Amino acid sequence: NRVVLAYSGGLDTSVILKWLRETYQCEVVTFTADLGQGEELEPARAKAELMGVKPEHIFIDDLREEFVRDYVFPMMRANATYEGLYLLGTSIARPLIAKRQIEIARQVGADAVSHGATGKGNDQVRFELGYYALQPDIKVIAPWREWDLTSRTRLIEYAEAHQIPVPKDKRGESPFSTDANLLHTSSEGKVLEDPWQEVPDYVYSRTVNPEDAPDRPDYITIDFERGDGVALNGEALSPAVLLARLNDLGRAHGIGRLDLVENRFVGMKSRGMYETPGGTIYHAAHRGIEQITLDRGAAHLKDELAVRYAELVYNGFWFSPEREMLQAAIDHSQARVNGTVRLKLYKGLASVVGRKSPDTLYSEKVVTFEDDAGAYDQRDAAGFIKLNALRLRLLGRRDGR
Ligand code: ARG
Ligand code: SIN
Repeated sequence: NRVVLAYSGGLDTSVILKWLRETYQCEVVTFTADLGQGEELEPARAKAELMGVKPEHIFIDDLREEFVRDYVFPMMRANATYEGLYLLGTSIARPLIAKRQIEIARQVGADAVSHGATGKGNDQVRFELGYYALQPDIKVIAPWREWDLTSRTRLIEYAEAHQIPVPKDKRGESPFSTDANLLHTSSEGKVLEDPWQEVPDYVYSRTVNPEDAPDRPDYITIDFERGDGVALNGEALSPAVLLARLNDLGRAHGIGRLDLVENRFVGMKSRGMYETPGGTIYHAAHRGIEQITLDRGAAHLKDELAVRYAELVYNGFWFSPEREMLQAAIDHSQARVNGTVRLKLYKGLASVVGRKSPDTLYSEKVVTFEDDAGAYDQRDAAGFIKLNALRLRLLGRRDGR
């Protein structure tokens, strides 16, 4: 029997690789995804080879474009944020990893898949709901829920007993747990576990401190077509390249830092720190273009759907009929979300300072405080208010106000 392991090449998943073989007498196939986490992937291949994985059983895939085009952008069309603030950078990557893992399992004839998420978190749920949705009879092995390597020290002892190289910086207590991709880097645990203590500077890895950001703003434009970003400063770019460029700009201006206590699906509260530099700029820009291109009714309904959509993504229900129904409605709303947004990037903030569109609903002629030459008859407002006031007046009369 064979198992496909989501393998980062790090210490934990290397221990898992060994443990799977020992515990299940199985052949391990490794899968390492490039989601733009900014790490070299060849070391993961070398490490898998060193651990005796057959070359034809080492899968390393560049999924950056698929990740941004088919996962991040659709989610951004919804303006989804979990609990009002979290841009879902880890949540949105999990279904893609699960999907690819199942494809590989089919290709190599594996009957099981495995991942390195703990039994206390959201990620186990996201991976496994993805696996089961795409391959109902798959066998799932989650070592963190099974083994007795319950501390860092035990894990390192196991590694040493099995000739798994332990990097020097992993010998001490690991300072915190991180997850990174093109959209964000998240950090949780250890020094972050006390929600009263401010996040120390060294935890930040992909943004400068806004206090040290340049004293001069950068102005940029992003062009949208049907709700998706297609160009930066007039230059057409693919989804992943556009997001990467925005990440560079966001990093320099200290944009997209978030310190949050959130509710995990399994029931506990956890405190995390997120850096979503490009995603924060993109999110602001998308809302900016919707301001002039979406009708109020559509826009307000979208805002309600966004809450539900975010919860589905957070809880791991990407491959669910209800997420797909919401996506269809949201995508429908984006048909005329075209145009250009101008943003000012300055000291931790991405502010929309201009928007224009061939599909704009904004009418200067109607809204102006100057003479509108008959575009709007102010006398119409009297009846509009009077009928809206009718029930309030009936109530007021009855209640003697
Ligand atoms: N709390 C975030 C989420 O559930 C991030 C989880 C993974 N992060 C980590 N540092 N291991 O999406
Ligand atoms: C983990 O438990 O593996 C990371 C945190 C999470 O999934 O919420």
